[in-house]
Order: sequence, then structure tokens, then C-alpha cells
Amino acid sequence: NYLLFLFPILAYLLGSISSAILLHRLYHLPDPRTLGSKNPGAVNTFRNGHTKIALCVFIFDVLKGMLPVWIAYRLGLPLFYVSLTALASCIGHAYPVFFNFKGGKCVATALGAVAPIGFDLSGLMIATWLIVLILSGYSSLASIVAAVAAPIYIWWFRPEYTFAVAMLSCLIIWRHHENLERLWRRQEPKIFSKSKNDN
Ligand code: G3P
Repeated sequence: NYLLFLFPILAYLLGSISSAILLHRLYHLPDPRTLGSKNPGAVNTFRNGHTKIALCVFIFDVLKGMLPVWIAYRLGLPLFYVSLTALASCIGHAYPVFFNFKGGKCVATALGAVAPIGFDLSGLMIATWLIVLILSGYSSLASIVAAVAAPIYIWWFRPEYTFAVAMLSCLIIWRHHENLERLWRRQEPKIFSKSKNDN
């Protein structure tokens, strides 16, 4: 039975592979944790002018969240282990063992992690994110609203996963605490403008 814990452990290790940091290194660019919002994620990569790399980061980060959960789900692992696997991949992304535990905000990884549980949930999360982004121009606000809405959506479709999704949402919101402070002070840059933190 201890073998079941292999899933969350491997998910954590996979989540710890930061595609943004690795792709920036590959293309001899500065560490994304020193640029823009300092977030090693797709939006910050896009913000800093690397659209194609941003797309690759997004796809990789979604897939690294999706793969372990999809396998765990398909193998019929108990709810607890599927949930733990989803959470572990996001914790890996936020606190990567390979990169001094300084990672990202888990939005793309969480989107991937919930997809095997319900494509309806991931579709609604994307729709919510896009609507808030279009209305406000703030990618961080879009992520926070999608994270707040996600437990409500899953409670509607698959109530047994509400607790796990709520945990993911808490992690995402916690990882956005600096964005929340900037939003409050009206200093948060919109997605099509350069970050005020840019050097
Ligand atoms: O998806 C990441 C987004 O929610 C926040 O990123 O770079 O604006 O802090 P950033």
C-alpha cells in the first residue's frame, strides 16, 4: 500500500521541473525569477516578450500537472491518492526541489491536474480566467477568481473532489499574495504592459 505514495512523490518531482527556468536557460535568457513579476510561469514569460517560449511553458506546465493525476485516476487509485497526487504536482511547481524551492503560482499546473477529474471543470476554469482577463486586463485577478470559483464548480459536478480542489485553490491564492497586495494598491501591471518590477 505504501507504493501508492509513489504517485504523489513522483508528481512532486515532476512538478518541480520548472519549464520556464529551464527554457530561459536553454535560450540563454536571464532567470525568469529576476524578470517582470519574477514568476517562473507562462504569463510572465509572455510579458517579457517571449511568446513562443510562453506557449511552451504553458503546455509543459499543464502536462506535468495532468500526467500523474491522469495515470493515478485511470489506474483507479482511491480518491485520497488521486487528490494527493494533484496537490503534490502543484506543490512541486510552487516549491521545486531542483530550483531552491522558489517556483511559480500553480495556475497552469493546477489546470492540468484537475483536467483528468473533469474536463468540465478545466473548461469552466479557462472560461472564467478568460472572461476576467478580458474584463479587467489582470492575469493575476483572472487566476484568483478562477481559483475561488473552482471549488464551487467541482462541488456541482464531482462533490467528492471539493476538498482537494479547495486545497489547490488555497495554494494558488496564497501564491498570489504579492499580486493581491499590488492589486489593492493599484500597482499591478496589466497583461499587455510591462511589470513595474521590471529592471
Ligand atoms: O498565471 C500566473 C498569473 O496568475 C500571475 O502571474 O506573472 O502576473 O504574477 P504574474
